[in-house]
Amino acid sequence: MEQKTALITGASRGLGLALARALASEAWTLIIDSRGSEDLEAARAELAALTSVVAIPGDVRNEEHRRELAGAARDEGGLDALINNASILGPSPQPALLDYPLDALEEVYRANTLAPLALIQAARSELKPGARIINVTSDAAAEPYEGWGGYGSSKAALEQLTNILAAENPDLRVYRVDPGDMCTRMQQEAFPGEDISDRPLPEESVPGLLELLTGDLPSGRYEARALIHINEG
Ligand SMILES: NC(=O)c1ccc[n+]([C@@H]2O[C@H](COP(=O)([O-])OP(=O)(O)OC[C@H]3O[C@@H](n4cnc5c(N)ncnc54)[C@H](OP(=O)(O)O)[C@@H]3O)[C@@H](O)[C@H]2O)c1
Repeated sequence: MEQKTALITGASRGLGLALARALASEAWTLIIDSRGSEDLEAARAELAALTSVVAIPGDVRNEEHRRELAGAARDEGGLDALINNASILGPSPQPALLDYPLDALEEVYRANTLAPLALIQAARSELKPGARIINVTSDAAAEPYEGWGGYGSSKAALEQLTNILAAENPDLRVYRVDPGDMCTRMQQEAFPGEDISDRPLPEESVPGLLELLTGDLPSGRYEARALIHINEG
């Protein structure tokens, strides 16, 4: 069987790590990153018991780091999947738009909107025929939740970038995927001081992502947990 390789950003915890664990158990080669090098090393060590893993600490907003990720993809013989999962919420608690510090907003856009496109640009030559791109989005991209104007608008722009990338590249599968609310650090930052233990674990959103990575669904927008129900029914 041909070796499959995925590049997952933000795979030191949360949804990225849950997806990395699932792909590792299917023997996909993994290229992973996060800013925090200790958590990334812990993830690498765990995943390396199952598969080949290249872990590169760094910030997706950094061009040199993106070049390193693309270089690793080349060294591994190309990518079957690029998952732009790394994302930041912005200030916690989230400020209303009229009070939103614009320098903080710029960082949110750089991480959540520009970096995913920039990484696809950097790795474009490494995408194997029929490769899948997943850009992880949110219902906050469309719903007018008070306080979610910074993060939500960054994801709205990401969604439309993804939509048009799909139209411009019919030979690729380009997905924008809402994983749904999950019990992760980002969710805790969004609801500081609240008990978020009622939210589903990120593992519950992984089967839907696997369906997009290995199935035959057309480019488009998907809700990860709704895809699981399609499989069941
Ligand atoms: N949690 C939810 O309820 C929810 C709902 C809808 C959508 N989402 C989306 O789901 C995805 C995963 O979120 P999550 O909840 O799993 O978040 P999380 O627990 O905060 O994990 C985020 C991961 O991304 C990394 N990361 C963040 N900024 C980065 C950067 N600039 N460069 C490189 N790595 C970076 C983090 O590590 P470092 O901090 O060490 O860099 C971590 O590994 C995100 O795209 C998020 O927007 C989440």
